[in-house]
Amino acid sequence: MQNDRIRNLAFQKKVMSEDVAASFIQHADTVGMGGFGPGGSPKALPRAIAARAEKFHQKDEPFTIRLLTGASTSPGLDGVLARAKAISCRLPYQGDIDLRAQANLGEVAYVDTHLSRVAPWARAGFYGKMNVAIIEAALIKEDGGIVATAAIGNAQTWLDLADKVIIEVNSWCPTDLEGVHDIWRGPEGSLPNISSPGQRTGDHLLRVSPDKVVAVVKTNERDLNAIFRSVPDAVAIAGHIIEFFRHEVAYNRLPSVLPPLQSGVGNIANAVMEALADAPFNDLTAYTEVIQDGMLDMVQSGKMRAVSGAALYLSHDRATRINDDFARVKNKLVIRPQEISNNPAIARRLNCIAMNAAIEADIYGNVNSTRVMGSLVQNGIGGSGDFARSALISMFMLPSTAKGGLISSIVPMTSHVDHINQDVQILVTEQGLADLRGLAARQRAKVIIETCAHPDFRPLLRDYYDRAEKAGGDTPHLLGEALSWHKCFVETGTMRQ
Ligand code: COA
Repeated sequence: MQNDRIRNLAFQKKVMSEDVAASFIQHADTVGMGGFGPGGSPKALPRAIAARAEKFHQKDEPFTIRLLTGASTSPGLDGVLARAKAISCRLPYQGDIDLRAQANLGEVAYVDTHLSRVAPWARAGFYGKMNVAIIEAALIKEDGGIVATAAIGNAQTWLDLADKVIIEVNSWCPTDLEGVHDIWRGPEGSLPNISSPGQRTGDHLLRVSPDKVVAVVKTNERDLNAIFRSVPDAVAIAGHIIEFFRHEVAYNRLPSVLPPLQSGVGNIANAVMEALADAPFNDLTAYTEVIQDGMLDMVQSGKMRAVSGAALYLSHDRATRINDDFARVKNKLVIRPQEISNNPAIARRLNCIAMNAAIEADIYGNVNSTRVMGSLVQNGIGGSGDFARSALISMFMLPSTAKGGLISSIVPMTSHVDHINQDVQILVTEQGLADLRGLAARQRAKVIIETCAHPDFRPLLRDYYDRAEKAGGDTPHLLGEALSWHKCFVETGTMRQ
């Protein structure tokens, strides 16, 4: 490889080891890293910064950074830095077990943010000055243009804002990635005129002034890809959704070529995409945030004709397979900055069907996607809010129970709200799909309890609702009892009272 991948002389002159490059990062710096999921996450610098932090800590000297990314990253980025106690503030989304624990202990200030908002807010200065940007590249071209890897996220904004830039050139990533990205940059507040998911409106290369680049580090490391668990309930959930689509097409509420799909993160979202591969819908498109395995399979099989997202978010096997097949599929994939991939105005314009996973929902259809038992952050809102309000149809999916059946995911009142009931039109569990469009609160409660709740918890929910209804109100609640299911779980380890 040598300089094959660093074709610009100014960048070649900056090549150095990651340990030397890490010395450009100081305690209390704000660091913007590329990456959105494992794709595009820098590999060498996080390790080197963690080692640098540990050296300072051994001398009882402080060393932490404020870390901004696209979304979650990988154990090799968030995990390594969290274990070195090197993060003081983190945004906008995370999914790492150690970082999550630190956020829940209050050791890390976690700023949970709609993903489409991050770049405009960074440019507006809400996150302070950006000291260093670290991004991963597949290739630096002769003219200094940068071919990004499996994600764009906020990479271009970090390159624009940072005083210093470090680039990891990763020869594990195929150079065939060139052409897959679409990096639109327009006047603040304006939008590209995207009228279909596959449309390109920008530059295919990231741009940075070579004067800002302080280091270029060579790597050859694969992404630490996701592991998708097979969730038994997901098959039933997917079945209900496919039946719903058939029904909507039969009633002329959806066209037979479905509008662009948006599919959230996690096991259930991925399983629904896998099930769609065998469903009688063709010529599919997606305007989404993460492109997971199930979606990519449909692109590779020809079932899906165009997909737009901020990142590939793949399992180990699929990531290997796509690396070998990139040249064939890349004209069907567009990887964009997340302020465009997740833009609510574009999602509304395209009439997206939003399908996101949830932690719990209440009998009126309010959804909690982020906080377990009200207080403990799981991951963050990510892009779910970007799509939920703007989509043509907003759907939330969840198993009716959690933790081996000890928890009912349908509760009298959610312990935290990310998506208000007006933004939740379809609620689906393995038990069934509740179409809440056009229903008043009292009607919604009956439909959700009878359709979505687990049979073991249905009598308790009916009992709660019947007593609340007698007490009155448009949205009947018993305030002294509404969160008693969560209290019971926290105190006894089960909601089975
Ligand atoms: N009460 C308590 N814990 C619950 C629960 C409930 N009602 N429902 C789920 N959980 C726990 C699970 O037990 C699991 O815990 P573990 O990590 O200890 O195993 C964890 O929450 C994740 O659940 P899982 O079933 O693995 O879900 P998932 O992988 O499908 O992810 C979300 C579900 C909601 C966490 C995930 O989709 C998410 O982070 N969503 C918010 C962001 C988003 O929607 N982005 C999409 C943007 S386009």
